[in-house]
Parts: sequence; structure tokens; C-alpha cells
Amino acid sequence: QWTAEEKAAITSVWQKVNLEQDGHDALTRLLVVYPWTQRYFSSFGNLGNATAIAGNAKVHAHGSKVLSAVGDAIDHLDNVKGSLHDLSELHAFNLYVDPENFKYFGQVLVIVLASKLGSAFTPQVQGTWEKFMVVLVDALSQAYN
Ligand code: HEM
Repeated sequence: QWTAEEKAAITSVWQKVNLEQDGHDALTRLLVVYPWTQRYFSSFGNLGNATAIAGNAKVHAHGSKVLSAVGDAIDHLDNVKGSLHDLSELHAFNLYVDPENFKYFGQVLVIVLASKLGSAFTPQVQGTWEKFMVVLVDALSQAYN
């Protein structure tokens, strides 16, 4: 499924990721750019505007949890489905998250990585990350099928 170049593109970018900061940035973008996603996080308190979202401690903590799961998937690139099996069930049967939203998270994560890495995020690296996001979304959606 992955060439050696693709694996290198994924892992070399991931080594530069700060789970806490970049997870926070990605989740903040999700909640601001796709505001209907806020409704799943009603227990997080004030998400009233972009400033409130960016300063929300629960958003902060949750962002690094989500990126840790992405990191687990990267540690299991040949079995991403297996690595996200339980999380897929959690989102499907306990959290009732519409799986369309996984795609939006993939989009904001790519944007966060691009703005962090600048010219190191070459078109080729982006292409590989877009592919990885498809695989990630597919794995998180497995329990919905
Ligand atoms: C919880 C991962 C996308 C909504 C979680 C948890 C993880 C996770 C690791 C914590 C599970 C636990 O505590 O055992 C991911 C990954 C995603 C993703 C890897 C995409 C790549 C989304 C999206 C939404 C969402 C797009 C909604 C729009 C939630 C909610 C919780 C949760 C509501 C529970 C939060 C809480 O009350 O603490 N997710 N998630 N997730 N996720 Fe996701």
C-alpha cells in the first residue's frame, strides 16, 4: 500500500509535529471553519467565538489526544484500520459523530502541517499526506459500514 518514499514523507513530517500545539491548532480550526462540529463538544464549555475556542483548555487537551491517535496510526501504517478500530466504534456508537466530519479534520490537519512546515511541505509531501488522510478517514469510518 505504501512506497518507501511515502512512508518517509509521512514519518519525517510527523517527527516535527508537536502534539499539543499542532493538535490544538487543528481542533481550533475544525471548530471555527466547520462550526457545526461544535455541537459534539457541548461538554467543553464556551466555544462562542474563535477567541474562546482558541483559549479553551479542553480544546487544548483534546487536540493532543486526537493527534496521539494519528501518531498511533502512523506507527502502524500497514494496519491503520486495526489501529483505529476501537476509536471508530467509539465515534460511531457512543459519540454519534457524522463521519463526513473526519474528512474536515483531515483537511484542517493538512493546512496546519503546511503552515508549520512551509517550503518543506512540498507538493509531493502534500500528495502523500492527502493519501494518508483518505486512509485515516476510511479507517475511522469502518464501524459505520
Ligand atoms: C474523542 C480521535 C475526529 C468528536 C476522541 C478521542 C480520540 C479521538 C483519541 C478520545 C477517546 C477517548 O477518550 O477514549 C479522533 C481522530 C479523529 C477524530 C483521530 C480524526 C482524524 C473527530 C471529529 C469529531 C470528533 C471530526 C467531531 C466533529 C469527538 C468527541 C469526542 C472524541 C465529541 C469525545 C470528547 C470528550 O468528551 O472528551 N476522538 N477524533 N472526533 N471525538 Fe474524535
